[in-house]
Amino acid sequence: MKKLIYFLIIPLLLISCKKATDNKESTEQSIGLITKNAMVVSARVEASQIGSDILKKGGNAFDAMAATELALAVAYPYAGNIGGGGFMVYRKANGDIGAIDYREKAPLASTKNMFLDENGDVIPGKSTLGAMAVGVPGTVAGVFAVHEKLGSLPIEDILKPVIELAYRGVIVTEKQEKRIAQYQPLFPKANKDSIPFDKHWKAKDTIKYPELAKTLERILTNGRDGFYKGETAKTLAKFIQDNGGIITEEDLANYEVKWRTPVTFTYDDLRIISMSPPSSGGVCLAQIMKMIEPYNLSEYGHNSVKAIQVITEAERRAYADRSYYLGDPDFVEVPIKNLINEAYLKERMSTFSFEKATLSSDVSHGNIQIIESDETTHYSIVDQFGNAISATTTLNGAYGSKLYCSELGFFLNNEMDDFSSKPGEPNMFGLIGAEANSIVPEKRMLSSMTPTIVEKNGELFMSVGTPGGSRIITSVLQTILNVHEFNMTMQEAVNAPRFHHQWLPDEIRMEPNLFDKSIINQLQKLGYIINEQDSPIIGKVDGILVLDDKSYEGGADYRGDDTAIGF
Ligand code: DON
Repeated sequence: MKKLIYFLIIPLLLISCKKATDNKESTEQSIGLITKNAMVVSARVEASQIGSDILKKGGNAFDAMAATELALAVAYPYAGNIGGGGFMVYRKANGDIGAIDYREKAPLASTKNMFLDENGDVIPGKSTLGAMAVGVPGTVAGVFAVHEKLGSLPIEDILKPVIELAYRGVIVTEKQEKRIAQYQPLFPKANKDSIPFDKHWKAKDTIKYPELAKTLERILTNGRDGFYKGETAKTLAKFIQDNGGIITEEDLANYEVKWRTPVTFTYDDLRIISMSPPSSGGVCLAQIMKMIEPYNLSEYGHNSVKAIQVITEAERRAYADRSYYLGDPDFVEVPIKNLINEAYLKERMSTFSFEKATLSSDVSHGNIQIIESDETTHYSIVDQFGNAISATTTLNGAYGSKLYCSELGFFLNNEMDDFSSKPGEPNMFGLIGAEANSIVPEKRMLSSMTPTIVEKNGELFMSVGTPGGSRIITSVLQTILNVHEFNMTMQEAVNAPRFHHQWLPDEIRMEPNLFDKSIINQLQKLGYIINEQDSPIIGKVDGILVLDDKSYEGGADYRGDDTAIGF
């Protein structure tokens, strides 16, 4: 049936360089933009356009990654950044895969108990708001590392359109107007001086970023040193310290990215390639998918009671392991192989019954034998050569720590909150951590970001990812399942209502008013606690699906201003 729809609709949609912006407020749109050669899907039209233009100019997916990442720093200050960090997974046209970690690091002067008071209690807000919350940013280093190793165009070609965008300015959307107004009360709490975002910005206004443009010009002239050394680094370190933080010029000069081996596993005839630690994304996704693989989800039906039960119970068990075992592999041993071992996961699910919900209080982390040693943003890109990338980047919270360096023109992250400040105490996403994710100078905080690429029969099938904090992993999971198990188009898979369970708190979060009341009633009778209040949306998924005729379908999430552009 899906094939038939494509057969009828593709000829109508194969218009070169088309934008999928129409009808985006609605979930009625069941097929996303379809292009023949290449595509970028990101949180803002300006960023997707710049990325797509780079591809049209002959650049590859890695050039477009650099351009899109930096364009998001201009067009989407809510989460796009040069003051934060991220992860990218890639698959080259020849099948080679890899991943880069440009996650923030704890400053040299950080200490294990830096967010606790003299009684050992967590100081509210200290790891989330203001200068102490900031981790050493990794984005500029990430962009340069990707470009140097895998890009093909000169860096000027990539940076110039981004700098022009910063000077020209970006038009405020209605969703952005609401976001700025929502977070405005927090800006004076994080900043000594007023910032441009204190102004009452309205939809259709244009915000210009001349200071950010100048910072980007220094980066153009001096490469990554234009950020991590010299004038920018000096200004940034002084600014953070003047606002009560601890990041120094030495922290910035020391920052390094890490090339990582992605987590890979199979699910039916799919091969999933996802982010390895210090993100928990790939490991948790592997655990959940391996736990649900033996069950016949497509027979149960999409968002049916049985499908929700199986997925929830696998999520519960995976997040319990996450809290105990996962952290920065440069500092703690993360037993990845054991955690995604099929026999271990089968044993983990052996306590599940369709008759009754398992209680999270009855689930702890599993015992493994060590045999051997609301903000983030996601974008997916495929190029005309067959390369694909999946990248997720973040300031952590909305506008990060809310600390904005007016002189340099950007917000700084509050990624320190992703560490476990105190064992057993939830962070801003309600995630509990342990020693593996405690604060140590230069360590990377555990992430849930799950940029993912899927192969089918050895060929590229999908690039997918999302923001959403702890809900990232489960949103990526459901999107893959929606296509694979429930035969949805990429756009339908993105649109579909989502739910989430993370072990603690012991509840199923559901996007409000999108799930059938009788399904909710049945789940409640089985002992599940349903929370439809606290997550108005779960994830903002962007993805690209390779269709049978080798064209691409973009899925851009209607929950944001997300847009697919390609040709
Ligand atoms: O790395 C992480 O898991 C978090 N810092 C991501 C934050 C996020 O997705 C916020 N968006 N809603």
